[in-house]
Amino acid sequence: MTEPSATFLLFGATGDLARRMIFPSLYNLLSDGLLPDDFLIIASARTEMDDEAFREEVCAALKQFLPADRYDADIAARFRAMILYQPVDSSNGAHFAELAERVDGRLERGISVYLSTPPSLFGPTAQGLADAGLLTPRTRIAMEKPIGKDLASSKVVNDSIGHLFAEEQIFRVDHYLGKETVQNLLALRFGNVMFEPLWNATAIDHVQITVAETVGLEGRVSYYDGVGALRDMVQNHILQILSILTMEPPARMDPTAVRDEKVKALRSLRPMTAETVKTHSVRGQYTPGAVGGQIVTGYADELGQPSDTETFVALKAHIDNWRWQGVPFYLRTGKRLPARQSEIMIQFKPVRHSIFGRDGQHSGGGSGLEPNTLVIRLQPEEYIRLTIMSKRPGLERQVQLEEVTLDVSLTAAFAGQRRRIAYERLILDLLAGDQTLFVRRDEVEAQWAWIDSIIDGWKEAHMKVSTYSSGNWGPSSAIALIERDGASWHD
Ligand code: BG6
Repeated sequence: MTEPSATFLLFGATGDLARRMIFPSLYNLLSDGLLPDDFLIIASARTEMDDEAFREEVCAALKQFLPADRYDADIAARFRAMILYQPVDSSNGAHFAELAERVDGRLERGISVYLSTPPSLFGPTAQGLADAGLLTPRTRIAMEKPIGKDLASSKVVNDSIGHLFAEEQIFRVDHYLGKETVQNLLALRFGNVMFEPLWNATAIDHVQITVAETVGLEGRVSYYDGVGALRDMVQNHILQILSILTMEPPARMDPTAVRDEKVKALRSLRPMTAETVKTHSVRGQYTPGAVGGQIVTGYADELGQPSDTETFVALKAHIDNWRWQGVPFYLRTGKRLPARQSEIMIQFKPVRHSIFGRDGQHSGGGSGLEPNTLVIRLQPEEYIRLTIMSKRPGLERQVQLEEVTLDVSLTAAFAGQRRRIAYERLILDLLAGDQTLFVRRDEVEAQWAWIDSIIDGWKEAHMKVSTYSSGNWGPSSAIALIERDGASWHD
């Protein structure tokens, strides 16, 4: 691996993501001694401002978004001295020339560019950088989602960057890949001997992935309406989790080996049709209700007009390959649900033959035997829980079984260690040029191809959103989606 980039060039520097995540992450990296002493951050946005005014804004953001015990005035003083601000309008070549002057002399040591702007500006920004001579083989470019709104438009966005940068220089961000718990899926599957032999259709009955949020639109109306939960959460975060969960074991932990396996899993997703969406998908939109004891308004009220955008989606997916044939994957995500909770639930099959009498009955002579489940809680708590059957102490003639839980709290096991912001990992990897936790173009396209099949199916079948009261787990049809198969959501 080459020397890490010495310069970080951030576009969209006055935006919400920069204030909440990117600057606090960079500050944390500096505070942990992970940035070179002469590291330079050049922040850029359209607003006219000088360096000092922008540094003040960054310090205010640090105070607001860092935990109180992380903010240290001496480190903050070092941090602000690393920051320059350069106003840039992406349609103005002269602005890029001014930007290039500020980079002066540092080009050879590598630049990591971070695009936290609307995707329509990705192409013009990349072109502006190239015209100003800032594009060298040591320039890397990271971009935030959304990369398009369907396969065709994602190709346009990817082409607009791809004709200037090689794929090895392009870092597509999915912040879920920066989360420790998502990376921990790799450790769980491939660092332990006991899970992988069971990780297939022979032993697994079905899998559930839930990413539930309590928040509503949070002032993002203009972005969210017309996008919806399928594109906002499933196309990227949920499919990335699914690909890590279902891929074949990569030969090693390197960007090509890992992403080759992920893309194969993504390409094996069975496309939906106008027929299958009716039974394999549910679209929901929240109406007024109560979440966490607070009365909240409905989506249409927040928007100020009726809309057919879904704020909840539940899907029954299939991965058509040898390992997963016949295993349903139930996926759901939504806003204004009862709890903020992201988790994976693996429901194993029953034992082949019960020596304890009739299965699954707690009374009337049954043994209490139940299939095992493995719950991997990704957030807010971080734990792994495996239910196993155990003999209930007692002298009954027939052995009575009861589920007990093998409970590994990762929060407790690693209590002394600071839980990092997902962006800390990703920025560090971007600076170092490690693409393992970034999404390759073929992955994005495989994700869109599957999502397009659902959106096309919805259009063709005229599937409108069903409503759900805020504070509920989506429309009742989401419960029916899984209960038709004799299973139920793990809430
Ligand atoms: C973003 C979505 O990508 O992820 C948001 O655009 C969503 O709508 C967010 O709220 C959830 O991220 P996290 O890290 O809070 O689970």
